[in-house]
Amino acid sequence: MFETMKVVDGTAFALTRHLRRLRFSADGMGMLPPDDERIRHAVAAVLDADPDAGKLRITWSSGVGPLGSSRGGGPGTLIVATEAGSAWPVAEAVHLCRWARNEHGALVGLKTTSYAENVLALEAAHDRGCSEALFANTAGDLCEGTGTNVFLVVDGELVTPPLSSGCLAGVTRELLLEEMAVTERSVAPDEFTRSSEAFLTSSTRDVNAIARVDDMVLPEAPGPVTVAAQAAFADLCARSLDP
Ligand SMILES: Cc1ncc(COP(=O)(O)O)c(C=O)c1O
Repeated sequence: MFETMKVVDGTAFALTRHLRRLRFSADGMGMLPPDDERIRHAVAAVLDADPDAGKLRITWSSGVGPLGSSRGGGPGTLIVATEAGSAWPVAEAVHLCRWARNEHGALVGLKTTSYAENVLALEAAHDRGCSEALFANTAGDLCEGTGTNVFLVVDGELVTPPLSSGCLAGVTRELLLEEMAVTERSVAPDEFTRSSEAFLTSSTRDVNAIARVDDMVLPEAPGPVTVAAQAAFADLCARSLDP
């Protein structure tokens, strides 16, 4: 499993929440939990060595194992790596991909390295000039992006798919839900046609407007609710780097 976070002034943002989710993912995988203190120590050492880092990733695996799908019983492997921060367009074009997220799958809610479906979907998005792909789930409801959660303003209400849609409990999504009035409800993909604005959230984007969904251009990007969400998130970051 893994966690990716932005680095602000040499600090990994919301590290405590990311470590909590890493532990949740390890538990869901039936793996030994990672040792938080060991990870914090490794994160500090890696950030010391790369003062310009903009992004940090923690990967925790079950370690050396046999060929095949069974696991070895050895100690886990911890990898902490940094790179420059991501640069996202001010407003993004997203592609609604043809593959479904399985909201009944074994990995729902876990942030594991089994991301090959995301790789394909993102490639399909890039081929269409988009920076993110969105999935619907097997029920046909909107779920999430390859590395993002999605929010829409429909009839003046800010809505986002519930965790039961199969989406990841994004740290950015969670923080925003604590800061703003958001309704978690099933969202049909065609609600984009009557949404006044929409945005994506992720640890490297924070809050980023959606300008179009395939050929459908949204009325405003960023619209007023997106701007308010961006301001609320910026305020939160200014208050604490480990909210
Ligand atoms: C599948 C998926 N959904 C949503 C998100 C957004 O989560 P977060 O805000 O914690 O970055 C991610 C993050 O990479 C993700 O991989």
